[in-house]
Amino acid sequence: MKLGFIGTGALTSAIVVGLKSLDGDPVSVVLSPRNEEIAAKLASRYPNTRVAADNQEVLDDCDTVMLAVRPQDAHQVLPELKFRRDHHLISLIATLSHEEIAGLTAPASRVTKALPMPMIARRLGATIIYPPDPDVTALFGGLGKVIEVESSSEFDALSVVTATYATYFKYLDTIHRWLKAHDVPDTKGRDYIAALFTALGHAPETAPEADFTHLAQDYATRGGINEQVLKELTARNVFDALAESLDGVHRRISAVGAT
Ligand SMILES: NC(=O)c1ccc[n+]([C@@H]2O[C@H](COP(=O)([O-])OP(=O)(O)OC[C@H]3O[C@@H](n4cnc5c(N)ncnc54)[C@H](OP(=O)(O)O)[C@@H]3O)[C@@H](O)[C@H]2O)c1
Repeated sequence: MKLGFIGTGALTSAIVVGLKSLDGDPVSVVLSPRNEEIAAKLASRYPNTRVAADNQEVLDDCDTVMLAVRPQDAHQVLPELKFRRDHHLISLIATLSHEEIAGLTAPASRVTKALPMPMIARRLGATIIYPPDPDVTALFGGLGKVIEVESSSEFDALSVVTATYATYFKYLDTIHRWLKAHDVPDTKGRDYIAALFTALGHAPETAPEADFTHLAQDYATRGGINEQVLKELTARNVFDALAESLDGVHRRISAVGAT
């Protein structure tokens, strides 16, 4: 398969690194020349990976093309290009709706939205796709989990989850800072926290019947220290505040999608 990319930034780089780690190098890659440094680095590092002269050459050379420019650039970049009816476009542009992308890329008739995460470089994490498309599922399926979504509203709701990564790391950072303030060496604290939370990340798959409420209960031994922290943060409305932030992100995503 030959796969083109319009926009060679952080996410394209992560996807290419993931694809190029697959056995047998099944996907040839054609990159747009911007960002020049990232494109040149990927092309020199991997076989069957080349940098096109411009965005149009990517489209002319490939049937399947990922759109990976920043949302604010898409309105300028996409209308300048000539799309074919038989192009299959996979838009990674988080805040542009399926309809908007279809409008900007006519007459291309097959458009799929996909939302991967940067850990795709290591073939970890999950990609949501809308509407379901067997070829896109096969492509991302080699790079982690794929969740097919039947409606744009469900896609928007699932997208909200991706707004919580930084908060997750701030949570770990708070624990790490606390350890450092209690004279635990930096690296030792980091290693300990990373190992514990990697292990906790496996809990849902080792107990597939348990929802997150039950997992929280399982780990909150009555009268124990987990219960203490959980109760104190709940009493301070920390989790209500998180749910309110999710509402705010959802309103923002849905409003953009609706324009
Ligand atoms: N990063 C993520 O975790 C993530 C996750 C999900 C979805 N997304 C979506 O994926 C898209 C790309 O995100 P990103 O993080 O990869 O952003 P990024 O690192 O900023 O990459 C965007 C790339 O587009 C290039 N570009 C700018 N103008 C262009 C043009 N006229 N023609 C071709 N390329 C052009 C930029 O080049 P310059 O560097 O030279 O400006 C930049 O390298 C965004 O729409 C974002 O919403 C990102």
